[in-house]
Amino acid sequence: MSGRIFSGVQPTGALHLGNYLGAIRHWVHLQQDYEAIYCVVDQHAITLPQDPNELRGAIREVAAALIACGIDPDRSILFNQSTVPAHAQLAWVLMCQTPIGWLNRMTQFKEKAGKQRDNASAGLYTYPVLMSADILAYNATHVPVGEDQKQHLELARDTAGAFNRQFGVEFFVLPEPMILGEATRVMSLRDGTKKMSKSDTSDYSRINLTDDADTIAQKIRKAKSDPIEGMSYDVAGRPEASNLLTIYAALADLPRSQVEAEFASANFSAFKGRLADLCVEKLSPITTEMRRLLADPAEIDRILDRGAEKADAIAGPILRQVYDIVGFRQA
Ligand code: AMP
Ligand code: TRP
Repeated sequence: MSGRIFSGVQPTGALHLGNYLGAIRHWVHLQQDYEAIYCVVDQHAITLPQDPNELRGAIREVAAALIACGIDPDRSILFNQSTVPAHAQLAWVLMCQTPIGWLNRMTQFKEKAGKQRDNASAGLYTYPVLMSADILAYNATHVPVGEDQKQHLELARDTAGAFNRQFGVEFFVLPEPMILGEATRVMSLRDGTKKMSKSDTSDYSRINLTDDADTIAQKIRKAKSDPIEGMSYDVAGRPEASNLLTIYAALADLPRSQVEAEFASANFSAFKGRLADLCVEKLSPITTEMRRLLADPAEIDRILDRGAEKADAIAGPILRQVYDIVGFRQA
């Protein structure tokens, strides 16, 4: 084993192609060489208001999606965050090591809080500290994520360093970001300059892992295009064409330049047809397996409970050492 991986995904709606290409398919491969811990981060989800019943359903749905994509809960650890208390407990300690100025620089908070910054919850503001706690509670060496999480990971490294310096210890490992593959930032199908996201109001902006073949084909057919002849990669000039070429390359596991060459003289709609076929071919086995798993929610709960036990066995002792380092008396 070459290290310990930790990564997380929020249960705030169906997983989409961006989650799959930017993160989850890499998580599946990494299980071979790393001790892997994958977490459905429900505590992160409530930084924005959530309907309790929907949240409960989404936790199981995301767990099922991860298993359907190939995360093996016997080999790796799969659980939901709130079942392991060390995350919130360590977050408090780290909160006290994190200068407010560092949080003020976080661009995701600015995006999510929008103009209503004073009304955003303190949880949304301190979200990156909870994320640091997720990683540091396991002393994870590597964190595979999409491009959008890079800034949060830098904060986790800085916080680990600040703790070590303040207490004169070499306790926390500084976690390395792993931003893998070509599709580190999959863009919306409706606007090639915006990230594909669970929170986009238009369902046509994304391909969900739960979409059936017809829906996938229709969404790709309706995806925004441009009037230029032939397909070419030019992020500034042709954001939509570039995004679709990147998606094709990632799904086909081919270098982008090869895909670009293959479709250099294809028109947009012919290319979309090929992309739709490829998408359906790659995603339909996942969708089918997800449906099978979701038919038995009790089994998903058993898997998550087993994962929580294994996670707690690692994070519990690390938290007790942290408490000792900071000087808490322990029962
Ligand atoms: P989230 O849906 O925000 O919980 O993200 C889960 C994982 O998917 C993280 O590693 C993100 O970086 C990654 N991710 C989310 N959206 C995208 C996207 N549009 N393109 C690439 N990766 C993404
Ligand atoms: N903030 C991440 C996202 O929105 C999810 C996340 C929470 C995470 N904790 C993590 C990712 C720890 C990696 C490691 O995508």
